[in-house]
Amino acid sequence: MKVFVIGSGGREHALVWKIAQSSRVQKIYCAPGSAGIARHAECVDISVENIPALAEFAVKESIDLTVVGPEAPLAGGVVDEFRKLHIPIFGPDRRAAEIESSKSFAKDLMRVNSIPTAAFWTFSEYDQLESLLKEAKYPLVLKADGLAAGKGVAICGDSDTARALGHAMMTEKKFGSAGARVVVEELLTGQEVSIIALVAGDTVAVLEPSQDHKQAYDNDEGPNTGGMGAYSPVPAITEPTLRRIERDIIIPTVHGMNREERPYFGVLYVGLMLTSAGPQVLEYNCRFGDPETQPLLMRLETDLVDLLEGAVTGNLGDVTLSWRQGASLCVVLASGGYPGSYRKGLPITGIEEAEAMEDVVVFHAGTSKVNGEWRTAGGRVMGVTARGSDVGDARRRAYDAVEKITFEGMHYRTDIGARALG
Ligand code: AMP
Ligand code: GLY
Repeated sequence: MKVFVIGSGGREHALVWKIAQSSRVQKIYCAPGSAGIARHAECVDISVENIPALAEFAVKESIDLTVVGPEAPLAGGVVDEFRKLHIPIFGPDRRAAEIESSKSFAKDLMRVNSIPTAAFWTFSEYDQLESLLKEAKYPLVLKADGLAAGKGVAICGDSDTARALGHAMMTEKKFGSAGARVVVEELLTGQEVSIIALVAGDTVAVLEPSQDHKQAYDNDEGPNTGGMGAYSPVPAITEPTLRRIERDIIIPTVHGMNREERPYFGVLYVGLMLTSAGPQVLEYNCRFGDPETQPLLMRLETDLVDLLEGAVTGNLGDVTLSWRQGASLCVVLASGGYPGSYRKGLPITGIEEAEAMEDVVVFHAGTSKVNGEWRTAGGRVMGVTARGSDVGDARRRAYDAVEKITFEGMHYRTDIGARALG
């Protein structure tokens, strides 16, 4: 069969890498792809936002299965367009993707379905937001309602900071229309974990838990990033906790979406805080996590194509999930300055040496190849991922591989997975 992956980051590299291992697949295309992805797939120069061109390509090439990496095309209706043309595609349609693209929709869904989450208030007028912010107890969390590339959420320690941010979002349109509505939430504390499930209308397959590291520097310091590293499984999530999350959070979410007449197909990614009162939902995403997908897919034994196809056709119940024993861990190597501004085009050495190591895969996120030489081309440059007998072993292997790689300004966290080691 022919598979088409949409996206270009480390997550999409991991998807393409895993799909390439399926004996059912003859050909993989990726739009727009990357120099790293080009080793397993034919890259097609179409932007992820150009939905008509993506659909036209899938029709022309008679693609059997399309997999969408990032949220923007899902929120933009790529699945609706493909379905109209009867081309099989994995992911939620535009209305179902609102679970990620509208935080107020997601919060209302949780309230109606008694899904544990932080208390919240939604505003569409700045004056009303300001009155609450004047009276409120701090800290509080302010969130732009719409998609803001991960930058629309801030923890505010006092009323002045919160009002300045609320004003920037709603009146100065700092995030454009994404800030037309603002959600204010109480602050939750605890460990954050990612639970990723595949959903097909009313059946679910819950993948093993993983944990991302969002802040730029060690000990969770510094600015928020797209994610600086991840590992799986997470010892803090025991089997009974995972079953409880499935019963009290995932299933009610999926049923709630059905009742809203927004049946859910695709990835349901639940970002959870493990609070002293139990797991509570921080956010939903409608797509695979990046970088969580990299360590997850390194451990998944099941043919990913069977799983994705099951989620498209509604046959998830027939697929058994199996995982390699042990653990896997991904360390993201970032450009100097990331998540702020950074230089591109810097030569990278050592990728081949790292990849030659046993149970190590380097997933490219922002690289390019110039005259046969690897160069940096993004903020998150690559995710060095290793498998091991447990988190500690995977971590040692991943950091040994990281040692082989250099580029000017390279920075990475040295404490990925530290929490799992106690
Ligand atoms: P979101 O896009 O809603 O997931 O928020 C991004 C990040 O902000 C999350 O991954 C958390 O680290 C943090 N966050 C969001 N909501 C809360 C909350 N209610 N309490 C504490 N941290 C939060
Ligand atoms: N790793 C966080 C995300 O994918 O949203």
